[in-house]
Amino acid sequence: MAERTLVIIKPDCIQRHLAGEIIGRFEKKGFKLVAAKFMQISEELARQVYAVHQGKPFFEGLVKFLSSAPVLVMVWEAEAVIDMARKMMGATFGYDAEPGTIRGDFGCSKGYNLVHGSDSAESAEQEINLFFRPDEIVDYKLTDSDWLYGKND
Ligand code: RTP
Ligand code: MG
Repeated sequence: MAERTLVIIKPDCIQRHLAGEIIGRFEKKGFKLVAAKFMQISEELARQVYAVHQGKPFFEGLVKFLSSAPVLVMVWEAEAVIDMARKMMGATFGYDAEPGTIRGDFGCSKGYNLVHGSDSAESAEQEINLFFRPDEIVDYKLTDSDWLYGKND
């Protein structure tokens, strides 16, 4: 059963011209892009995205960073996409992230960590609803889907 996740290409990633690199990795992995929006997130919306971290010492800085410049918000679909996308992003801080992951390959900062990915089915649903109306999510079939998953899976 296909799952959906919310991915945000964060302000540092856009400013560093890395958006295409990140999209390319998810495309090549075989995920299906079903929604996308280029926008600047308001401070209020950033607070909602990171509501679980409210009250933590890094919360205000995190909200300021996410709302500081444009981002690309996307919904990607695949079986088990939530965990796979986070594995591809790597550990939260660039200096901890393994080479081969997005954060491991392109960053060494703590807060400027290039991407956000939902961490559970529950948060994915909640986060997708913050950015997209149901009619903004496109339902279609990738012509190579039988080759991506294997017909016998
Ligand atoms: P994200 O939500 O952005 O995908 O990152 P994550 O799941 O890997 O990490 P999470 O624990 O959800 O933290 C959200 C963001 O807060 C910043 N952070 N700073 N100073 C700190 O100790 C600290 N801990 C977290 C990071 O920028 C992280 O992306
Ligand atoms: Mg998180």
